[in-house]
Amino acid sequence: GLKIVTIGGGSSYTPELMEGFIKRYNELPIKEIWLVDIEQGKEKVNIDAKMSQRMWDAAGYDVKVHVTFDRREALKDADFVTTQFRVGLLEARIKDERIPLSYGMLGQETNGAGGIFKAFRTIPVILDIVEDMKELCPNAWLINFTNPSGMITEAVIKYGKWDRCIGLCNVPTIAMMKEPIALNVDPNELIYQFVGLNHFHWHKVYDKDGNELTSKVIDAMLDGKDVGLPANINNVPFFGEQIREMNMIPCGYHRYYYRQQEMLEHSLMEYETIGTRGQQVKETENKLFELYKNPNLDHKPEELSKRGGAYYSDAACECINAIYNNKQTHMVVSTKNRGAIPELPEDSIVEVSCYIGAKGAMPVAWGKLPSAQRGWLQCMKAMEECTIEAAVTGNYGLALEAFTLNELIPSGENAKRVLDELLIAHKNYLPQF
Ligand code: NAD
Ligand code: G6P
Ligand code: MN
Repeated sequence: GLKIVTIGGGSSYTPELMEGFIKRYNELPIKEIWLVDIEQGKEKVNIDAKMSQRMWDAAGYDVKVHVTFDRREALKDADFVTTQFRVGLLEARIKDERIPLSYGMLGQETNGAGGIFKAFRTIPVILDIVEDMKELCPNAWLINFTNPSGMITEAVIKYGKWDRCIGLCNVPTIAMMKEPIALNVDPNELIYQFVGLNHFHWHKVYDKDGNELTSKVIDAMLDGKDVGLPANINNVPFFGEQIREMNMIPCGYHRYYYRQQEMLEHSLMEYETIGTRGQQVKETENKLFELYKNPNLDHKPEELSKRGGAYYSDAACECINAIYNNKQTHMVVSTKNRGAIPELPEDSIVEVSCYIGAKGAMPVAWGKLPSAQRGWLQCMKAMEECTIEAAVTGNYGLALEAFTLNELIPSGENAKRVLDELLIAHKNYLPQF
């Protein structure tokens, strides 16, 4: 049987992950699941472990859920390692949001200055995990969900030199769930092609005869239909003229770039009234753990759909299933470019349509991009590269380069002040600086 290790086991998404594994148990013979956390996550991970064990027992499968605070104990002989940890906990996220917002800049978990700092805190930890894996489970796959998912995956593959890594996000999953509903067609009738980076991809849709349906999805989206916007993103509409011209479906996060002004205004309003997204999530999370504590609860509660990452288990568990059973399933994941986007370096991590099997992810080539998309991707990828290198080396000048390249950080004195304040605020999690 398989040994699955989940680092950051105390996440409120853990029951979601269990549900995904339970659904696939007939294909994925799991024997043991190890939830790894740290001292500060003790209460949460213990609640999750009990809840998870109840879910397995209710399903009638003989799977044992373990908790450990010793990562190395868990990693020994693991088959699949999934990561869903948050360095510095929600308090750190709230600082990532509040400090830029206090200077009138976007404060968000994966975009702008906050996203850069989440990478700075997380990359040293993920590289340590990779070193442990080399020693303790050299054949295991690392299925990364930890944000910023694309940059973390690039750090693992480029700097950790660990190729058996796939980065995941629920955004493409939700799009592929909701678009057939919006078009009122059978989900199996649609073919997708995605291109871009994590939280920065576009896609096209076709029917099974190959006729393009992209403009139909765009119309549905512009009509206000649900085409899969994650719960954490404010629904500012895109400009129809722009989206119809590109004839590609942008992801929800493109709003931060295409409607920067309105998204910033909304975030500032929340910051001054109900609090940042991280502050709001804290309340949702408390409610979730109250529910999970109930010894009679043995299935994922509805409340979890309020979190932006809802349905992520469909991505994580299906990816593991596709690798284990060499299924060659179409999935949208972060993997090495290898020419899929010819305008980006071939060793860049990109988030594109792939076929997933025993060898991992095989990206589908997109080919030439229109000028706008090419320019955005090259700039965003340069920003990511500077961020990752600064995270590894602690180079302040490079951190400032990343800030300057980031479209959501206006350059100048305030940018430098935000950088300096974040460096101080997160000092305990930034040994490299
Ligand atoms: P969370 O705050 O609940 O953190 C999960 C757990 O990680 C906590 O129990 C915490 O104690 C633990 N942790 C912190 N540092 C650790 C370390 N060094 N080793 C082991 N465990 C550690 O976070 P969450 O809201 O469940 O999100 C978890 C992660 O998943 C975050 O990085 C988040 O950004 C990411 N996420 C990704 C997506 C996606 O689409 N890829 C969607 C949602 C969330
Ligand atoms: C999204 C994403 C994640 C993101 C998260 C935030 O949709 O795909 O990568 O960071 O959900 O959700 P939250 O509920 O924590 O704000
Ligand atoms: Mn995501």
